[in-house]
Amino acid sequence: MKTRIFAHRGASQYAPENTMPAFELAYEMNADGIETDVQLTKDHIPVLIHDENVRRTTNGIGFVQDYTLQEIIQLDAGSWFSSSFTNTSIVTLEKFLQWISPKSLKLNLELKNNVIDYKNLESIVYNMVKDYGLLERTVFSSFNPKSMERMYKLDPAANTAFLTTSKIRRLTQFTRSIGCNGLHIKYRILSSQLVEECRKTGLDLRVFTVNRPAQMDRCYKFKCAGLFTDVPDFALKQRSSLPNERTSKRIHPFQRRR
Ligand code: G3P
Ligand code: MG
Repeated sequence: MKTRIFAHRGASQYAPENTMPAFELAYEMNADGIETDVQLTKDHIPVLIHDENVRRTTNGIGFVQDYTLQEIIQLDAGSWFSSSFTNTSIVTLEKFLQWISPKSLKLNLELKNNVIDYKNLESIVYNMVKDYGLLERTVFSSFNPKSMERMYKLDPAANTAFLTTSKIRRLTQFTRSIGCNGLHIKYRILSSQLVEECRKTGLDLRVFTVNRPAQMDRCYKFKCAGLFTDVPDFALKQRSSLPNERTSKRIHPFQRRR
């Protein structure tokens, strides 16, 4: 099984993170999937933005949870990145699901509830993904283990992953104990031992944020289930230059004869 390439916040090296231009670009580049971050507005609408506060990635100030949807979509979420993206707006989860639904892209919805534990974020997001018939293609993830437990209670069959930046003791057992079938780790803690533990416990291991060729190669060598990258074009190129990949593309001599 190939390591799947997820565009981290879309193709975020080339377009403002978590916006439609970044998602469109990831699709055009042929990424296998898209990772994006979900927070809730004051009127409980899931929107795609990484930080709890709008300051870094928009022309506004204050917290996402203090904006209504009508207010938050007025913000400019593109200018901070480049003037060519002026007036790009924050995207709702619903609009993103509508866009992705007819495509074959996988989704990783990261619930950003480790700083603000938004009430009912899990059920709001889960029900919307279910309504769009996208459950099979979606992995829900969070740095908040309680959130993943809640997701498991909603649907034990949902794909869920625990996110972590540190190698705590018995990490794979802990991840299993909160009902997850995936583990998303920071590249720094990737090791052959962890890869083996995930294999033994049946956890899909995905790695963030993998932007350098040598790091990509290591994920491919370990046959990680996925990696998250800001540069999906580079990750695809790197993956297609792997020896196995080249061999599998070669036409068998008997197939050539006719
Ligand atoms: O989901 C992988 C990665 O996005 C987690 O970290 O801070 O980039 O959302 P962050
Ligand atoms: Mg994220």
